[in-house]
Amino acid sequence: MTDKFQAPRGFHDILNSDIKKFRRITHVCRELLESHGFEEIILPVVEFAQLFEKSIGEATDIVQKEMFVFTDRKGRKLALRPEGTAGTVRAYIQNRLYAFKPYHKLFYEGPMFRYERPQAGRYRQFHQIGAEIFGVSDPLADLELILLIGEILNRLEIEAVIEINSLGCKKCRPAYRASLVNYLHTVAGNLCDVCLERKDRNPLRVLDCKEKTCKEAIVSAPKSVDFLCQECSEHYRKLKAYLQETNLAYRENHLLVRGLDYYTRTVFEAVSDKLDTTLIAGGRYDYLVEEFGGPPTPALGFAVGVERLMLLIDSPLKDYSFYLIIPFGEVHSYALKVAEQFKGTGRRVEISYRKGGLKKQLEFANKVKADYVVIVGEREMKEGKVTLKDMKSGQQETLSFEEIQSFLRC
Ligand code: HAM
Repeated sequence: MTDKFQAPRGFHDILNSDIKKFRRITHVCRELLESHGFEEIILPVVEFAQLFEKSIGEATDIVQKEMFVFTDRKGRKLALRPEGTAGTVRAYIQNRLYAFKPYHKLFYEGPMFRYERPQAGRYRQFHQIGAEIFGVSDPLADLELILLIGEILNRLEIEAVIEINSLGCKKCRPAYRASLVNYLHTVAGNLCDVCLERKDRNPLRVLDCKEKTCKEAIVSAPKSVDFLCQECSEHYRKLKAYLQETNLAYRENHLLVRGLDYYTRTVFEAVSDKLDTTLIAGGRYDYLVEEFGGPPTPALGFAVGVERLMLLIDSPLKDYSFYLIIPFGEVHSYALKVAEQFKGTGRRVEISYRKGGLKKQLEFANKVKADYVVIVGEREMKEGKVTLKDMKSGQQETLSFEEIQSFLRC
């Protein structure tokens, strides 16, 4: 096969047992979010590129290097969405959701696109499940999201640490930024080339650099929490007090900054030591709605990276037991009647399309991992029965419809 027929680099198929992991993750997240009153929103995959440039930030890696941007037939600049928050904010304003309720809790799921260097758990098309709350400034909302992240990890039996930090607001961030830039100038000789260039443009990102020399250089960097204004400080203090009252394990990470510019106050991430990567991430973005022309609306959210979690779960959803009906002869409508017996019993049942004798059929049943085969021949049809064979033990017995029903009940 030529390269022409391979998926582009960083784009991947999800199949076989990975599908079960994928579905398990989305199922757990959706169930939790819905039970917390989040309503689903289905967002377009394409938006005007400017939406992301303005919200995520012109100087960020995502906007500078990672967006899939194209022009449409009328010359408009569009982008495949690199994340879901900007689109949700756009939809919140465009649909005037603020006019209907004092606050909104929304969630979305779907593919996101970033032109990154692919590696394990990092793709150019990946999937997120995101949750956003609009209209709540109370740190109780921050608490709800952090606890939800804890619960998602718990239900999926994933070991990860939840880290939190506060980045302050428009009032207090400038002083912190200035102090950080000053500091970075004093250690400029130890910064990598990327950070040297970043230190004035996007200084907070230097704190996030994975290069050893940069990590060492920023050990004594000023901390955002030391610059918080009265309101931000109070918000952060309350959040930590609420967290103390729960039994959620979390830690403060004063170097935690995010790769997107819209954050204010609380930011949080669930990180896995095993993978040395972020699994779930989010925070507050109290100005974004207003910046896009909506009313002043404090907001916050997080997004789960589905492929990242897939690397850490190894117990796919328990399968339904699988019954493969093997028809022999002119018994098709009888086979359909037999299949009816399994409906609504929580079993998977299929009529085999495989042609051939019993040996071939049983080989096929093994290949598709059937737990039982249900043999339906002309003799069975005449007697109104089936032959049920347990593929594990090899035992088989002939059962009437009533006997099938009582077998399925145990
Ligand atoms: P983010 O940290 O850019 O935040 O992405 C969230 C999660 O998506 C990451 O923690 C990671 O699990 C996953 N992810 C990101 N890039 C990739 C990739 N190339 N391949 C695989 N997985 C990836 C956001 O996107 C924000 N919108 C989160 C948010 C929602 N903040 C507030 N509300």
